Amino acid sequence: MPALVLLGAQWGDEGKGKATDLLGGSVDYVVRYQGGNNAGHTVVVGDQKYALHLLPSGILSPECVPVIGNGVVVDPAVLLSELGGLTERGVDTSKLLISGNAHLITPYHTTVDKVTERFLGKRKIGTTGRGIGPAYADKINRVGIRVQDLFDESILRQKVEAALDQKNQILAKLYNRRAILADQVVEELLGYADELRDYVCDTTLLLNEALDQDKVVLFEGGQGTLLDVDHGTYPFVTSSNPTAGGACTGSGVGPTRINRVIGILKAYTTRVGAGPFPTELFDEDGEKLRTIGGERGVTTGRDRRCGWFDAVIARYATRVNGLTDFFLTKLDVLTGWERIPVCVAYEIDGRRVEELPYSQTDFHHAKPVYEMLPGWTEDISRAKSFEDLPKNAQAYVKALEEMSGAPISAIGVGPGRDETIQINSFL
Ligand code: GDP
Ligand code: IMO
Ligand code: MG
Repeated sequence: MPALVLLGAQWGDEGKGKATDLLGGSVDYVVRYQGGNNAGHTVVVGDQKYALHLLPSGILSPECVPVIGNGVVVDPAVLLSELGGLTERGVDTSKLLISGNAHLITPYHTTVDKVTERFLGKRKIGTTGRGIGPAYADKINRVGIRVQDLFDESILRQKVEAALDQKNQILAKLYNRRAILADQVVEELLGYADELRDYVCDTTLLLNEALDQDKVVLFEGGQGTLLDVDHGTYPFVTSSNPTAGGACTGSGVGPTRINRVIGILKAYTTRVGAGPFPTELFDEDGEKLRTIGGERGVTTGRDRRCGWFDAVIARYATRVNGLTDFFLTKLDVLTGWERIPVCVAYEIDGRRVEELPYSQTDFHHAKPVYEMLPGWTEDISRAKSFEDLPKNAQAYVKALEEMSGAPISAIGVGPGRDETIQINSFL
């Protein structure tokens, strides 16, 4: 079972970090293939809590090689500070590998991200302000700067000048901001070159050779399916492809090599930033989910919007990712409700709709059709097997599995590594 993809099945924050870390001890490589430091992946090891943004969650497993693939956008300042923070806490980060083809987030990308959002006003996306969208826009516009450019001053200078020629016009004329000086940017970027040099290599070659040798490679999605720029709730999305296909383009590993695609699925739903969210709650149930679930953004500290489980979204995630398994997380958060509503379909302008509508207008009009499932009150955080769960919790999991279209192979009952019920092995 050499290559697995692990990704978010909803709008992010499903518990990808925990799930990746859990597998980290049994895999040889963990690869981030898209996104950047917009991600906030929490890993709890014993009494230690880590918040990872750019680094693959496998970095906490000593035997595992963490890889930043070509599809990621790398803010070098953030990367070095994250590495420094982990080293200070005694984590060995020396095995990290970074693709020379990954694009850089520079200070002008972060500036453009922030001023664009301000300019959009009420219509803003609610980005993380980390420069993600502008860096990917430059990549697609072919004016991006890549990690390998750090090691050739002349190319770096030419590329920064070309990018700023355009950007400064926009910053000055549209946003009334001061021009950014190319020399300053080049100087700052060159300052990172020596510290990063030893991490950089041809990760595509390395990963394909590893797979030839039957090594186990795990691809870790940065965000969730509904934030995918192609398959998500566009335009309220991130600017890359967290869906399974992104693992191939973002790493240079072909789809024929991927054996398993695991969707991380929260037992309810959350979203950060703007955009439609049919099961969103504005009442005390929403507040209760937020409080018990600790639903506050790891990256921006924003409160997450909370709502009931949405099976239409889970089915969609199964379809667009070709999911082979689900890892259901945070089941413990639902303990204590007498009845738990689950959205089984939408009502859109008087019609019942079972599948996610492709039309944005329809999705904005979607109202959840709920089925009520009986709740449970017993503490489930110490459950080690499916049979340890109260009957109603078992029935809740089985109902979600039936509606979502792929087997639930693991269940999270707490944030810790050992607070997991493994039903089918992933390897
Ligand atoms: P990610 O972005 O998908 O990695 O998820 P986040 O780390 O942003 O948010 C998930 C939060 O839920 C983190 O605080 C995790 O420690 C926590 N978590 C993960 N799985 C479980 C679980 O099964 N139960 C509980 N109570 N917390 C969990
Ligand atoms: P993890 O890894 C939740 C959201 C932002 C915004 C939209 C675009 O923790 O699951 P961006 O800065 O990417 O251009 O913002 O995407 N977003 C996330 N929401 N979890 C994340 O990552 C997210 N990364 C981006 O809130 O709505
Ligand atoms: Mg997160």
